[in-house]
Formats: sequence, C-alpha cells, structure tokens
Amino acid sequence: MGGMPGDPGTPTRDELLAAYALPDRGAPRLRMNFVSSADGAVVLQGRSGTLGGATDRLLMQVLRTLADVILVGAGTVRVEGYGGTAVSESDAAWRVARGLPPQPGLAVVSRALDLEPGHPFFAEAVVRPVVVTCADSPAGRREELAEVADVLVCGEETVDLTATRAAFADCGWTQTLCEGGPHLFGALLDAGLVDEVCLTLAPRFVGGAARRIVQGAAEADRRFALAGALSDDDGFVFLRYATR
Ligand SMILES: NC(=O)c1ccc[n+]([C@@H]2O[C@H](COP(=O)([O-])OP(=O)(O)OC[C@H]3O[C@@H](n4cnc5c(N)ncnc54)[C@H](OP(=O)(O)O)[C@@H]3O)[C@@H](O)[C@H]2O)c1
Repeated sequence: MGGMPGDPGTPTRDELLAAYALPDRGAPRLRMNFVSSADGAVVLQGRSGTLGGATDRLLMQVLRTLADVILVGAGTVRVEGYGGTAVSESDAAWRVARGLPPQPGLAVVSRALDLEPGHPFFAEAVVRPVVVTCADSPAGRREELAEVADVLVCGEETVDLTATRAAFADCGWTQTLCEGGPHLFGALLDAGLVDEVCLTLAPRFVGGAARRIVQGAAEADRRFALAGALSDDDGFVFLRYATR
C-alpha cells in the first residue's frame, strides 16, 4: 500500500480505515487527533485547519467514522467556529453496515458554559450534542443549553474526565475521538485517560507565538509507543502513538 514513510503514494480512505481500525470496540479507548507544524505550532493564523492538507482532512473524516463520540473542549468550539461534524453519506453507510449508528455522538467539555445555543456546534449538529460540565457551572447557562443539548454534570469544581468516560461507556460510547484543544489534551493526560494520539506533522515551519498541542499538563515523562506512521505525496506525516 502507498503511504508508508519512504513509499510513494498517498493513502486512500480504505487504507486509512484499515490503518486506524479499532479491533476491540468493547474496551474503552480515548484517541486524540491533532495537527502540528514541523516546528511544533498548534495553529497558523489562529486556526488548525490552515496547518493541515487533503490527507489530514480525509484522516479526520476516517477517525470520526470510526468513533462512537467526538469530544472537544469549549475553547476550540469558541475559536474555531467548530460545527458541521457530521460524517458523509458513504461514511454513515460504512458505519451502519458495521452495526454502528449512522453518526457519531458529539460532546463539548466546559465549566464556564460561555457557548451560545445558536453556535454552529449546536445548530449544525445532526445528533443532539452533549454538554459535559460540572456542578459549579452557571445554572442559568445550563438551562439555556439544555434547550439544544443534553447536559451531563460530572464533577464539582471542574469536569471529572474519568467520570465522563464512565458516563459515556454507560450510553454505549466506548470509542472516544478527542479533537482538542491543547488544554483539554493536557487535562486528559493529567488524568491518565489518553490511550492513543494521532498526530499529523505538517511540512511547515511557522515560527510565531503559537502554542504546542499540550497545555496546562504537569511536566512528566509520559512514554507512548509508535503504533503507526504514514506519509503522503505532499510531505505530511501521520503518526500514531499508543499506550498499549
Ligand atoms: N492543531 C490542532 O489539531 C488543534 C486542535 C484543536 C484546537 N486547536 C486550537 O487550539 C486553540 C484552543 O485551545 P484551548 O486549549 O484554548 O481550548 P480547548 O482545550 O479546546 O478548551 C479548553 C476549555 O475546555 C474546557 N475544559 C477543559 N478541561 C476541562 C475540565 N477538566 N473541566 C472543565 N472544563 C474543562 C474549559 O472550558 P470553559 O472555559 O468553557 O470552562 C477550557 O477553557 C484554538 O486556537 C484552536 O484552533 C488546534
């Protein structure tokens, strides 16, 4: 197959589906997906999409197709105008043929709940989204968002991400795809909840003041194994790190 580093060729959707397959859906798994420039920037001109490329966008669709639920931090929703996460008709058919619902679930983590009910995250959702929050969040905002989403309260002062994973598993969502951002990634690392990191390395050196893909986590030597590496004709590298 094309796409192994050093091989010519760009991986196809089917090759990506095979390379990122989730063989045991019974075991809870949290998979992160990030793109970074080769010099470690998490954004270019304030957005992550400007760093990516065609295969990166295809991989994002493939990872969504494989997931039970897409999880994202409120910061990313606010900055990226994040919405329209539905998978295509053919990806939905692929899911249904394997006994999955046509679309993955969609969830945002927030304490402040500074999210408008009319935001594309809610307005463009094709499944009812979940707002994961904590008991200390503003009650009025919870009520407002309950009009457009299911509100899940996990934890007191901050969202208890371990309890969130358990609540997801209770509703059949064992395979979580987290699409960032860096603070949610940091919190998930600190909680020991990250099983896999899918990292697209863009052949770009952007300088500037952009931050890294992990923010706010305590410094520690968290060792992951390299579980996969692909590349495409545009010079992008697709790394997959796993804890087991
Ligand atoms: N390169 C990439 O692949 C990629 C991917 C995603 C995002 N990004 C970029 O990253 C930037 C946004 O990142 P970010 O780190 O600021 O945002 P983020 O990680 O998406 O969201 C952070 C927010 O999530 C909520 N949160 C996270 N953990 C929580 C917990 N344990 N309890 C309660 N709330 C929690 C809080 O929301 P509240 O403030 O609402 O309480 C927090 O402010 C954007 O510029 C975006 O473009 C890049």
